[in-house]
Amino acid sequence: MPGVVVVGAQWGDEGKGKVVDLLTQRVDAVVRFQGGNNAGHTVVVGQDKFILHLIPSGVLHENKSCFVGNGVVVDPEVFIAEIDRLEQRGVDVSPRKLRLSERAHLIMPYHKALDVAREKAKGKSAIGTTGRGIGPCYEDKAARVGVRVVDLLEPEILTEKVRAATTEKNFWLKEYFGAPTLDAEAIIADYLRYAERLRPFVTDVSVELDHMLESGGLVLFEGAQGVHLDIDHGTYPYVTSSNPVAGAASPGAGVGPKRLSGVLGIVKAYTTRVGSGPFIAELEDENGRWMQEKGAEFGSTTGRPRRCGWLDTVVVRQSVRLAGVSCLCVTKLDVLTGLKTLRICTAYKLDDGSIVERIPASLGVLARCTPIYEDLPGWEEDISQARSLEDLPDNCQRYLQRLAELVGAPLALVSVGPERDATIVVRDPLAVKEA
Ligand code: GDP
Ligand code: IMO
Ligand code: MG
Repeated sequence: MPGVVVVGAQWGDEGKGKVVDLLTQRVDAVVRFQGGNNAGHTVVVGQDKFILHLIPSGVLHENKSCFVGNGVVVDPEVFIAEIDRLEQRGVDVSPRKLRLSERAHLIMPYHKALDVAREKAKGKSAIGTTGRGIGPCYEDKAARVGVRVVDLLEPEILTEKVRAATTEKNFWLKEYFGAPTLDAEAIIADYLRYAERLRPFVTDVSVELDHMLESGGLVLFEGAQGVHLDIDHGTYPYVTSSNPVAGAASPGAGVGPKRLSGVLGIVKAYTTRVGSGPFIAELEDENGRWMQEKGAEFGSTTGRPRRCGWLDTVVVRQSVRLAGVSCLCVTKLDVLTGLKTLRICTAYKLDDGSIVERIPASLGVLARCTPIYEDLPGWEEDISQARSLEDLPDNCQRYLQRLAELVGAPLALVSVGPERDATIVVRDPLAVKEA
């Protein structure tokens, strides 16, 4: 199985970082293929906690290659700061290990300024973006006026592009949003400085991955965000500006789709969402507060409290279909310990009484939906030391079985704590054939 994709099956923060770090021991390389530093992937090793925003979560392992693919939008200042922070903590992040695609688009200061200005102007209907400039950067990519990593190595092209873009963006910032403008020459000077730091990392990621895969290497593709934040398939417009679905690993890293032979869907045992947008199974009661507190549900990137709710299998079932999930990793099961009754949302009911089993494209229709729940008994026993399914209380096993049945994919891993070893292996996610 040469290429395995790890995807978030909900609205992000499912625990992808922990799982990628865990599986990195067994692969040759880890690749980010979409999103940017809107991601916050947490890896806990002993007493140490690392939050990775741009660098793949496999970076803590020795002798593993880490790639940032062309589909990622890269803020060079953040990228350099992340390298420096990791190195200060004794992690090797040399160009021998970390490679950056020459085709990746760069997040520029005007992207961040526009992201913030647009959100402010939207007022109540704001998306609740991370303010990192992700949307405006992907806009420029699609408009064919983006600045790419390769441009950093050609100062004349960089200068020309930045001057043209800043003139246009300043017009929008000043005239439309009434926001401060930016100085193109200062941006050029900063980015030429970044260029010198980044130069040794820059490569053709597609070619390097091809060599690796041709020689029998195993590659893990690390998704960011989650399927329901996908710009095509998520709760538009309350989404991010990339495609977190597994198929995006192909264009986002420059590998053919046949290389991707397995998809591991990461499912939090309940649901969380940061930012605005529909959330049918959301809780605003003591159960929601339980998940928030016990699960420490605060954004890894912005520190915002995450909205919490019951497990919604309409959401996860849809992700299984959209991302071609071949097996599941259920995370944060330990957070549910102690809740008397657990509810699973199995479908929605429309206000005309009809049953809805997939998420409607229209947010108007979705707003008319209420959750249909199935109740399951909870468990009291501490499960954080469980290392096999048999170690789990019967009610806990039942919850997992019902989850897998309702979403239509088999269980591979169950996570019962943030640490690497707090994991139950049901089947090998790197050996399961595509469903
Ligand atoms: P990601 O964006 O999908 O990588 O997820 P985040 O790192 O943003 O959020 C997941 C949080 O849950 C992190 O703080 C992890 O350390 C933590 N975590 C992951 N798996 C488990 C688990 O099984 N149990 C508990 N209690 N915490 C977990
Ligand atoms: P990881 O990889 C959770 C959300 C933001 C906002 C929307 C659009 O850690 O799972 P953006 O800045 O991308 O334009 O914001 O998407 N969002 C995330 N939510 N986890 C993430 O990443 C997210 N990345 C973006 O909160 O609602
Ligand atoms: Mg996160």
